[in-house]
Amino acid sequence: AKLHQLAKSQGKLYFGTATDNPELTDTAYDAILDDGMMFGQITPGNSMKWDATEPEQGVFSWTGADQIVNLAQQNGQILRGHNCVWYNQLPSWVSSGNFTAAQLTSIIQNHCSTLVGHYQGQIYSWDVVNEPFNDDGTWRQDVFYDTLGTSYVSIALKAARSADPNAKLYINEYNIEYAGPKATALLSLVQTLQSQSVPLDGIGFQCHFILGEVPTDLQTQLSTFAAQGVEVAITELDIRMTLPSTPALLQQQKTDYQNVIAACMGVEACVGMTIWDWTDKYSWVPSTFSGQGAACPWDENLVRKPAYDGIAIGL
Ligand code: XIL
Repeated sequence: AKLHQLAKSQGKLYFGTATDNPELTDTAYDAILDDGMMFGQITPGNSMKWDATEPEQGVFSWTGADQIVNLAQQNGQILRGHNCVWYNQLPSWVSSGNFTAAQLTSIIQNHCSTLVGHYQGQIYSWDVVNEPFNDDGTWRQDVFYDTLGTSYVSIALKAARSADPNAKLYINEYNIEYAGPKATALLSLVQTLQSQSVPLDGIGFQCHFILGEVPTDLQTQLSTFAAQGVEVAITELDIRMTLPSTPALLQQQKTDYQNVIAACMGVEACVGMTIWDWTDKYSWVPSTFSGQGAACPWDENLVRKPAYDGIAIGL
């Protein structure tokens, strides 16, 4: 059986992958991406981000995002929306704009409600806020926090809820996969938002891991957040290694993938798993982490690696 089929048969909602528009001209790539039994869920890797969707204030651009939404719908794949508010890949009119708190509030509201509203009824879950914390648990000092303090999170979540009441609203973060100050800070934010009746349905665990360093308490962390009454998901899984890859490293990667998948499978509230693209041919890793790569379950020739079998075993 293929990966999404296996996930479904074990009671999960989906096994999915990120993709990106430039890759879609690769017909050999498309043949696997479009297989709804392999991938039951798609995340656009870039084309829903702020710089892509509202490059100028009040001017919205849907070309790239619509292409991926249409593709997923043709394939019978559900979608995760990624993302509404993030410090990165912001157009300069937002990041360098000197806005008052009132102005930035309405900018966030307009962006979130227009973006989420454009796809109303078509998105399973939205990463409404992405990466709000530093690793030490302090708030990331970005234009949103600097102008609005922590209130930007609830402003965004409320706007998203009004725009699509049926979409699951997530905060998505990395380095919360193990116990530490960042996970503690996010857990406490979840509690605060809930005490204020701010809409929040899920926490996304990005899971951009390093070979041999998958946190042993990942399942515990998923359970800890789930115990707050939110769903959880693995949203951006990849496991990178220092190149070149060797058979031994690929075996370790197989074990690592299996362990990550098993952690989600062991937590009822973990609804699904998404890999951050399925082939090394289009992974973001080599261009971001110098000297590292081979992070995906298929190699650059679109051939399955041992990691694929690790996932299948974990499912
Ligand atoms: C990455 C994309 O994959 C790259 O193509 C882009 O150049 C940078 O962003 N965390 C996230 C994702 O939430 O949006 C990032 O995606 C990877 C890290």
